[in-house]
Amino acid sequence: MADAARARVLAQTANVFTPRDESPEEFPPGAGREETFYTCTACHNFKLVAQQGMNRRQWDESLTWMTQKHTMPPLEGNDRKIVLDYLEATFPPRTAPGGRGSPNPFLKQ
Ligand code: HEC
Repeated sequence: MADAARARVLAQTANVFTPRDESPEEFPPGAGREETFYTCTACHNFKLVAQQGMNRRQWDESLTWMTQKHTMPPLEGNDRKIVLDYLEATFPPRTAPGGRGSPNPFLKQ
């Protein structure tokens, strides 16, 4: 009982960005999901990430930006690859209908 009270106090005082109410399972499955989730949720919730849609280069720039502006520990080598693979495959750019990203009718899908 004391534990429950303590947990409530901790929950209330937690930084709003601290994702106490999220788990990796809420996001689309894929290789690297857990690694990516825990890397990013050290600072903010994963919804902030999941609501973006970017290509690999833009995700890569976001990681650099997190490191330079927000003091994220640099993600390098295979760790960076794992995270980028997941982000690119799971949250690609959303293309507006009829926008520049619309399918090329001359290319067979
Ligand atoms: C060391 C802390 C830290 C880590 C780790 C971190 N971020 Fe962030 N991130 C921030 C802060 C601070 C913001 C700004 C929050 C805001 O805009 O309110 C942010 C914002 C963002 C945004 C929103 C940018 C926008 O235009 O609104 C994206 C996307 C993002 N982070 C991606 C990531 C990804 C992907 C990871 C994991 C690979 C990650 N972050 C890990 C600190 C971090």
